[in-house]
Amino acid sequence: MTEVSVTMQVGPGAVAAPAPPLVVEHVAKSYELDGGRIMPVIGDLSLTLREGEIISIVGPSGCGKTTLLNTLCGLLAPDAGRIRWHGREVAGQPQNVGYMLQKDLLLPWRTALGNTMLGLEIRGVPAAQAEDRCRAMLDQLGLHGFADQYPSTLSGGMRQRVALARTLVNEPDVLLLDEPFAALDFQSKLLIENDTVKLVREGRRSLLLITHDIEEAVSLADRVIVLSKRPTRVKTVYDIALGGDRRDMMAARQTAGFSDYVRQIWADLDVVLQ
Ligand SMILES: Nc1ncnc2c1ncn2[C@@H]1O[C@H](COP(=O)(O)OP(=O)(O)OP(=O)(O)O)[C@@H](O)[C@H]1O
Ligand SMILES: [Mg+2]
Repeated sequence: MTEVSVTMQVGPGAVAAPAPPLVVEHVAKSYELDGGRIMPVIGDLSLTLREGEIISIVGPSGCGKTTLLNTLCGLLAPDAGRIRWHGREVAGQPQNVGYMLQKDLLLPWRTALGNTMLGLEIRGVPAAQAEDRCRAMLDQLGLHGFADQYPSTLSGGMRQRVALARTLVNEPDVLLLDEPFAALDFQSKLLIENDTVKLVREGRRSLLLITHDIEEAVSLADRVIVLSKRPTRVKTVYDIALGGDRRDMMAARQTAGFSDYVRQIWADLDVVLQ
């Protein structure tokens, strides 16, 4: 798939539409292995994330999803192609982008609150204000009463919620989440999916979510992108047209058409895995 963003000049005085939060054009990335062998991981990949949009990305294990997110947020340099954030190519890490890594990576010597406050501290937000915002975010993610506990005393699901709170409290315009709910039991997963989607949709933020869970991918997203095996590229894009309240993950799973999308995407991945 090739997506090219076009800004149209409709007539005199027409205001150009703002550039999408993220436009990726023909990005490629390889790793150099021991012995000098080059392993292509991202083939030729293009996608556009629009304002207020939620995109889920699914693909075979090891196809290059984490590599893609690392490249998008400037932790890795692409070998080819262009990445534009709000219309501009940026050197290094883009502003107002929250990236939650595949592993929660909480600092063990800081409490849940201390971990959540990290980004605000770095940005110089006054401590009292930062603490209020972080406590409110922890409450919102169901961690009321756990703010002063250390990561080692929290369950895996709670730790992931702390990591999510740490990402969301910075109020990023764009969120990049790498399998954020993978370690959760079904019930916790639904609750956190709901909270995340609510925060994203109500704040007009945009979200790129990587997941192995096809039902999660469909229930959350406006579009699901299926990636091919390595070197990965966009294989299929599904526009998810489900009715009802798109902030309610349980309701989305019961909507007519939901299981058709899930079946189709499974079939698509099976073809890839052969
Ligand atoms: N720093 C690195 N150096 C060399 N190879 C790497 C490096 N990081 C990842 N790889 C390899 O690149 C490929 C893609 O890895 P990546 O972690 O991006 O895949 P993924 O789709 O996120 O996998 P998963 O579904 O397991 O999370 C894998 O074969 C992996 O072993
Ligand atoms: Mg990964």
